[in-house]
Amino acid sequence: MSYILALDQGTTSSRAILFDHAGGVAALAQQEFRQIFPQPGWVEHDAREIWAAQLAVARECMQKMPVAGGNQAQQAIDSIANPAGRANRIVAIGITNQRETTVLWDRKTGEPVANAIVWQDRRTAGRCDQLREAGHADLIQQKTGLLLDAYFSGTKLEWLLNEVPGVRARAEKGELAFGTMDSWLVWNLTGGRVHVTDASNASRTLLFNLHSMQWDDELLALFNIPASVLPKVVASSGVMAETDAALLGTPIRIAGMAGDQQAATFGQACLSPGMAKNTYGTGCFMLMNTGGKPVVSSNKLLTTVGWRMDKDTYCLEGSVFMAGATIQWLRDGLQIIKSAAEVQPLAESVPDSGDVYLVPAFAGLGSPNWDPYARGALLGMTRGTTRAHIARAALEAIALQSADVFSAMSRDAGLPLQELRVDGGASRNDLLMQIQADFLGVPVVRPQVTETTALGAAYLAGLAVGFWRDTDEIVAHWRVDRRFEPQMGAYARAAKLARWHKAVERSRQWAEA
Ligand code: G3P
Repeated sequence: MSYILALDQGTTSSRAILFDHAGGVAALAQQEFRQIFPQPGWVEHDAREIWAAQLAVARECMQKMPVAGGNQAQQAIDSIANPAGRANRIVAIGITNQRETTVLWDRKTGEPVANAIVWQDRRTAGRCDQLREAGHADLIQQKTGLLLDAYFSGTKLEWLLNEVPGVRARAEKGELAFGTMDSWLVWNLTGGRVHVTDASNASRTLLFNLHSMQWDDELLALFNIPASVLPKVVASSGVMAETDAALLGTPIRIAGMAGDQQAATFGQACLSPGMAKNTYGTGCFMLMNTGGKPVVSSNKLLTTVGWRMDKDTYCLEGSVFMAGATIQWLRDGLQIIKSAAEVQPLAESVPDSGDVYLVPAFAGLGSPNWDPYARGALLGMTRGTTRAHIARAALEAIALQSADVFSAMSRDAGLPLQELRVDGGASRNDLLMQIQADFLGVPVVRPQVTETTALGAAYLAGLAVGFWRDTDEIVAHWRVDRRFEPQMGAYARAAKLARWHKAVERSRQWAEA
C-alpha cells in the first residue's frame, strides 16, 4: 500500500495526514503551536516552532502508517529499525498552508529575522489607509485581484523591512528570503536548497500580477520590496523539490502545493466553474471556481489564483476572519465552555439566541465589509440572557458572516448559487450547518471526508506523480455525507439578516486608526 503525505500548516496547528488511493485518511497527527499577541491587533507566530511542529507531526504520522498484512508486531519492529521502509511507501508530499502569514529569514543560517506576522495581524492598517488615500487601491485591485487590506503579505513584508533594525540593508545585499508558510516549509524540508512558492500562495501577497502571472515590478516599487527576497513561483501540481534524506528517512518528492483555501476547493472537487465551497476553520473562506480567466468582483470579494496545473484556474473568494476562532474565544477568552464540542449542546439548549448578536470582529472585518478598525461586539443582552444564548449567537455569527459572503458571490456570479459544499472542523457541527442552510436559503452539502484542505494538497501532489490518473478520478471520490435543507421561511431569514446588519454597523470603526 502506498500513500500521499499531506502537510497542512494551519493558523493554530500543524497537521500531517496520510491519504490512500481511495482518498481516505490512513493516519493523522496534529500539534498546536503558540499564538503570540504582542499588542492589541497584532498576531505573530514563531516560524521555527511551526517548522518543529510540522516535522514532528510528519514523523508521527509516518509512524502511524498502517502496516500492510502479515505479522503486525514484526513489521512495526522492522519499520523502527528501517524508517526508510515507511518513507518509501510515501509516493509524494503535498503542502497546504495558512496563507499570507509572512516570514523573512536569513538564507545562510535559516533564522527568521523576527516572528512571522500572521494574516490576522492589523498592524499595517494605517499604511493601507495611506496607500488608499494616495489613490493606489484601483491599480492594486486591477493587478492583483485583491483589496488594499492589512490581511495580505505585501504591507507585512514592508513592515519587517522597515521596522526590524538592519533588515533592509541585509535584504538589499540578497541575504534574506521572504515566504509564506509553504515557502518556509519547502526551504526547511530541503535543507535550504529550494526557495519556491506556488501561484495560489503568490496571489495573496499584493505583489503578484494575476494577468502576467509574475511578480510585478510596479508593485514591488510601490511597497519598496527588493526582488532578491522573492521565491520562484511554481505550479501547484508538479515536482518542485525533494526532501533532505535525513529528515524523513529517504528523499521524498514534494509535488503539490497550494494555499489552504484553494486546496480545500480542489479537495471538494469544485473543479467546474460555478462550484463553490465554504471551509469552517479558524476563519471561514468561501471560494467559487470561475474557470480560466480572473473575474473582478463588484461586491468586495477577492479574485485569486485557485491552482496552477497545465492551465491556471481562478476563484472568487470571500474571507471571514473569525469562525472556529470565535468558538475558541468562548472557550479560552470568555471561558463559558470547556471544550469546543460543548458549544453545540449548549446552543441547542435554547430555541434561539434571544435576539442576542455577537459580531466577532476581533481582528476587524473581512468580506464583504473590509473594516480593519471594527472590533468585537455583543449586543441585545437582557437580564434573561444566559451563556447558552451567547453560544447560540456565536454559532449564528459564523453562519451570518458566511451568508453575507454568499450573497455577494451570487451577485458577482450574476445568478443565485444553488447549493454550498462545506468542510473544515466546524462543518461537523450539525446545528451550525442547519443554521447555515436556514440563513442561506439553499442546501448545505457536507462530504464524507471533511479533511478537504489536506486532501486537496494530496490530490495536487498525487496527480503530478501519477498516483491518481486525472481529475475525473478525483470527482468520483467525492461523496455526500449529509445534505442540510433550509427550514426557515424567507420572511424570518430577511428579518434575521436585517438585525445582523444593524449589529455589524455598531461594531464598525471602533479601534483607533
Ligand atoms: O487566509 C488565511 C487562511 O488561509 C487561514 O486558514 O484554515 O487557518 O483558517 P485557516
